[in-house]
Amino acid sequence: MLKGWLIYNQADAERNRAYIDWFLSEAEAAGVELQFVSKEDLTFGVKNNLLYLKRSNEPDRLPDFCVMRNMDELLSVHLEALGVKVYNNSFVSQIANDKAKAHQYLAKHNIPMPDTTFVQADDYREANFTRLVFPVVLKAVKGRGGTEVFLIDSLEELTARVKLRLERGSDSYVVQQLVQPGKDLRVFIVGQQIVGAILRESDRDFRANFSLGGRSSLYPLNEVETSLVRQIMDLFELGMVGIDFVFGHDGSMLFNEMEDVVGSRTLSLNSDLNILKIYLDALTGIIWEDDNSVSRVVIERKEIDKTPFIRCEVRF
Ligand SMILES: Nc1ncnc2c1ncn2[C@@H]1O[C@H](COP(=O)(O)OP(=O)(O)OP(=O)(O)O)[C@@H](O)[C@H]1O
Ligand SMILES: [Mg+2]
Repeated sequence: MLKGWLIYNQADAERNRAYIDWFLSEAEAAGVELQFVSKEDLTFGVKNNLLYLKRSNEPDRLPDFCVMRNMDELLSVHLEALGVKVYNNSFVSQIANDKAKAHQYLAKHNIPMPDTTFVQADDYREANFTRLVFPVVLKAVKGRGGTEVFLIDSLEELTARVKLRLERGSDSYVVQQLVQPGKDLRVFIVGQQIVGAILRESDRDFRANFSLGGRSSLYPLNEVETSLVRQIMDLFELGMVGIDFVFGHDGSMLFNEMEDVVGSRTLSLNSDLNILKIYLDALTGIIWEDDNSVSRVVIERKEIDKTPFIRCEVRF
């Protein structure tokens, strides 16, 4: 039986208990032995020049795969090096969990997006921003839930906001041109499949986040929009993510961000789609599809005591 770990940190696990239970029951239905693992129960590093990973009070058996719901790039890279297939993989996690890296990487691949400047609070000089056309949107690169996203009306306000943050420790930001306010589209992806898209709108805030009071509805993607989504999907090996877009003044979709640890509340509210069933079906298909790769991974794992770096290249 395929064995997997569902990794969360403790605080997030407490907030997401119902979601975790749903995940585990879908796994059982799909014939996968998925165990909940708290990140705090894992110790990992290097011993005798070999990578190791231990789980408290459990035998040292690595799973076949991990669903990482923890935004922990170091742990993801570590598991991958030990031959465990991680979803979403460390590259997706690295790009998705940093708004500057996401814009940089996708711009390199000609994906349309709002004009964006990367700012390090330490290096901020007001004189470099005198030509900005206000209002602009300021976002902390690691912010989530719209709480670190500000509409800024003047240069003085921009400087004050960056400096205010600096007092709480340095931070990185993106400064972005304001496009259509109060409207954002999340496209839910599993593997190579576009599961559905949800439009989030707000009349009282330029931020359309559902958690900030926005409303949501199912959105049919047209052909051009679907092809843009596919263009982004092709740049990654995805497990389950949300790809978020804002809209230009001409109505065209502009890349906004990629959500690594994506929830599915708005999708469940607006449709009968069971995204976790789709995800589990994809994971089992993906992992068993290529029998040669699977046996190679198993053999490599037996070599773990001898080999410090083990690469796993099961693809889907
Ligand atoms: N350049 C922009 N122009 C207009 N509106 C924007 C722009 N950037 C973001 N917004 C609005 O603000 C909302 C929050 O911004 P964003 O999604 O980038 O950060 P976040 O919500 O904190 O991230 P997460 O979705 O991970 O929680 C977006 O959903 C969108 O409605
Ligand atoms: Mg967002």
